[in-house]
Amino acid sequence: MYPQHIAIIMDGNGRWAKIRNQNRTEGHKEGAKVVRGITEWCLKQKIPYLTLYAFSTENWKRSQMEVDFLMKLLKKYLQSEKRIYLENNIRFRAIGDLGAFDKDLQDAILQLEQLTQNHSALTQILALNYGSQDELSRTFLRILNAMPDSALSSLKTYSPQEMKKMIESHLDTHSIPDVDMLIRTGGEKRISNFMLWQASYAELFFTSTLWPDFTIQEIDEMLQDFLSRQRKFGGV
Ligand code: FPP
Repeated sequence: MYPQHIAIIMDGNGRWAKIRNQNRTEGHKEGAKVVRGITEWCLKQKIPYLTLYAFSTENWKRSQMEVDFLMKLLKKYLQSEKRIYLENNIRFRAIGDLGAFDKDLQDAILQLEQLTQNHSALTQILALNYGSQDELSRTFLRILNAMPDSALSSLKTYSPQEMKKMIESHLDTHSIPDVDMLIRTGGEKRISNFMLWQASYAELFFTSTLWPDFTIQEIDEMLQDFLSRQRKFGGV
């Protein structure tokens, strides 16, 4: 079966710049350009969901200068890509705790989400101030806070399946299918707090290619590999 949802950990921007004796920020700039090509590839392949890990809950630990640069890049990206979303029927969604961003950025994200909410060719999801553990914690709090105190004890009578449905419908990714292909560039072989719930049955792809060097040819090869794998979802 063709993948419905591809998620990518875009790693290696800093090293890409370092090799060239440039500031890490140049790597991020170059990395942002690759995002458009991969998004267009998903459109062409008719893959309906693409999630990109653009800023993690841990990325605040970077230098103030790098964090500021990433915020500016993101704002610019949302502005410059608006035309692409509109011309290509792409829906934009953000996941993560957006409340930590400045008001301008939050407004730009919300506006683009609203503007594209009826688009249906592809949903491009940016993970922003996102971490899976944080998402799950916020999810449980959302569930508890949505219920009147008098109804809280009814949660104890839920079956595990009912609880699973309840959790899924309150995740940041509610109404988005689970991840089929999880790709990480940059050579590390870890998941780094990304889509831990949603990628439970994902096929994993790790490449040493640094994100700014990641090509259509390489993702094409990964797709062919994916199509040749037998997925069992715990069965035989
Ligand atoms: C990881 O590379 C990358 C990030 C933390 C940021 C990802 C951002 C982009 C690809 C560009 C902006 C994207 C959009 C959508 C505007 P790293 O800096 O950890 O690289 P390193 O491991 O080589 O240091």
